[in-house]
Amino acid sequence: MTNSDLIKDLKDNVNERMAFIKENIDKKNAIVITHGCQMNEHDSEKIIWLLEKMGYNQVNDIKDADLIILNTCSVRHSAEDKVYGQLGNLKNLKNSKKDLKIAVCGCMMQRDESRNYVIEKFPNVDIIFGTNNIWKLPELLYSSFNGKKLSMDIEENPVGIDEGIGAIRAYGFKSYVNIMYGCNNFCTYCIVPYTRGRETSRNPKDIIREIENLVENGTKEVTLLGQNVNSYGKSLDYDYTFSDLLSDINDIDGLERIRFMTSHPKDISDELIMSFKKLDKLCNFLHLPVQAGSTDVLKRMNRKYTKEDYLKTIEKVKKVNPDIALSTDIMVGFPGETEEDFEDTLDLCKKVEYDTSFTFIYSLRENTPAAKMTQVPDKVKHERFERLLDVLYPIQEKKNKSLIGKTQKVLVEDISKKRDDYVSGRTESFKLVNFKGSREDIGKIVDVKIIDANSFSLEGEKIGQK
Ligand code: SAH
Ligand code: SF4
Ligand code: F3S
Repeated sequence: MTNSDLIKDLKDNVNERMAFIKENIDKKNAIVITHGCQMNEHDSEKIIWLLEKMGYNQVNDIKDADLIILNTCSVRHSAEDKVYGQLGNLKNLKNSKKDLKIAVCGCMMQRDESRNYVIEKFPNVDIIFGTNNIWKLPELLYSSFNGKKLSMDIEENPVGIDEGIGAIRAYGFKSYVNIMYGCNNFCTYCIVPYTRGRETSRNPKDIIREIENLVENGTKEVTLLGQNVNSYGKSLDYDYTFSDLLSDINDIDGLERIRFMTSHPKDISDELIMSFKKLDKLCNFLHLPVQAGSTDVLKRMNRKYTKEDYLKTIEKVKKVNPDIALSTDIMVGFPGETEEDFEDTLDLCKKVEYDTSFTFIYSLRENTPAAKMTQVPDKVKHERFERLLDVLYPIQEKKNKSLIGKTQKVLVEDISKKRDDYVSGRTESFKLVNFKGSREDIGKIVDVKIIDANSFSLEGEKIGQK
């Protein structure tokens, strides 16, 4: 059987199972609870698409659900603990509601340790699947409804069947689009290559078709997703790079904004940097995770760039687009990090001047190379974390305040969390802006004059709309 025959066969089977559940199962309220990154958020959108095909309704309260799906994250210990806590809390609900089905999926289920722990400690879990076989959900539900105690399927690598799965996106006007799956980098602290499998690029034609379709249905902004988008194309059997893809997406009529997540500093090409000047739809925002400022630490992290390489890249980016907003992931307390290493991180942050940052305390992940290295005491890690924020936040505030008096184009996303007569949205540079507005503004790109700012968000006044 060829790969495409196999896929066809599997899809026929999935369609059959979905039809069975749609017709034969009565109680169909579902809730999907998502942990982790944008990859997981988008996977949940695919799960919801499958659920809707089977006739499920989405509910917001766990108590109303007949099916609860936890889409899990393994990146740090705390992420896993949250899921164990939730599963513990579900015990009573399951006891009082015999028909309730509990499914656990996502990155934790790809790790033997966490999966085995769930199976052992939470016998109430009915269904388990991984990150590379979301499309198996109907089959697993089917066997669960037919009395199977635990329906489980974990697959190491994708076989491309995701192409057939749609997604019910959280927002109609901004959409996540996978351009690749997996990661080959094996940074020594990171669990993702073990939970998401090897790097595989989607076919550009499928990506373009998906985006054209989204735009026809009202999408204004796409965020291209991959663990390392700069190496997009390497697994294709012809010459086509991430910059080529960006340029082709830029040509799609009706699309207004392009973003991408995440770039690895070792693979960022000059061509990609030039895209920030050349492509009018590419937003002036670059998330370029540095992780640490010390070349020695970076080496032990297997990041394959030095502090100087990183700073040189940033210099090039700023030269090509002086208004670009920069964002990063930074970790403190990586094994063996000395005070001097940490000061290198602070120094780098002062030089780059990030607009936004995602900061983490190193968390030991079993069976990664860093787990065997000499660990930094917790107290030191926490102290360094506070010192890092003391450097990052005032810079962020200064950069945000520099926008006061300027007009920004804001894609309005929601009613503001602060006040219900306010809305919130993002500038092209991904800054969060709150301003007076109403539900009617949602999904529109609005001109907003910035009147105030702090380290995390801006406040503005609407002056016009597109
Ligand atoms: N592929 C992306 C990031 C994936 S994970 C990239 O390479 O940038 C998101 C972030 O979580 C990482 O950038 C890193 O800063 C953090 N992270 C990963 N493993 C971690 C660990 N063991 N402890 C603490 N933070 C971690
Ligand atoms: Fe993890 Fe490194 Fe891959 Fe990012 S590039 S997902 S940090 S291994
Ligand atoms: Fe994302 Fe967490 Fe998995 S960060 S890739 S959901 S381990």
